[in-house]
Amino acid sequence: QVEPKIAPSMLSSDFANLASEADRMVNFGADWLHMDIMDGHFVPNLTIGAPVIESLRKHTKAYLDCHLMVTNPLDYVDQLGKAGASGFTFHVEVSKDNWQELVKRIKSKGMRPGVALKPGTAVEEVYPLLEGENPVEMVLVMTVEPGFGGQKFMPDMMDKVRTLREKYPTLDIEVDGGLGPSTIDVAAAAGANCIVAGSSVFGAQEPAQVISLLRASVNM
Ligand code: DX5
Ligand code: ZN
Repeated sequence: QVEPKIAPSMLSSDFANLASEADRMVNFGADWLHMDIMDGHFVPNLTIGAPVIESLRKHTKAYLDCHLMVTNPLDYVDQLGKAGASGFTFHVEVSKDNWQELVKRIKSKGMRPGVALKPGTAVEEVYPLLEGENPVEMVLVMTVEPGFGGQKFMPDMMDKVRTLREKYPTLDIEVDGGLGPSTIDVAAAAGANCIVAGSSVFGAQEPAQVISLLRASVNM
């Protein structure tokens, strides 16, 4: 049985007050904090890196669910491990040749490995990473083109989630992009259990209510 994990995306937070924004989300009931690391190359946006994770780690014990939208994820493993990242999710599109080395390194630094796929990437691409000696422990199915918060959820991606859930009943399956009260039901029904939500949580009058609604929908 998989557990719901609600992960507010800190990309929608006030970066000038990151520590208090993180505390606020934990108090509102967040299970994880989703940290979007972008390099301005894999995606046309630039956000944060290991120094910010390191600073935030000094202020919170929360699980930091790092999503690496970068061309060379291997270059970030050691510094993010040292900084105190909890999860390290890299993109399959840039890791076809070195994912085994990547997963080993991520684990050796005490982080939990995950793999993400863009909307245009077929779900079959991640199968090899779920087999063998060093499998990834989570698959992140992007439900928008990576790069920016506040985009529209792509329901067509639910076929990937359903296919993964049928094949891997206990796998953590994360969805990211456009999730909120109006889209959670299809995602949960398809089998997603880790829910990233940026604008729908930070833009809400009562973020705590949105977080508990998301959790309740996964549990149904
Ligand atoms: C987009 C990021 C997401 C983003 C989600 O590239 O991976 O985590 O912050 O934001 P919303 O929930 O607003 O779509
Ligand atoms: Zn993300």
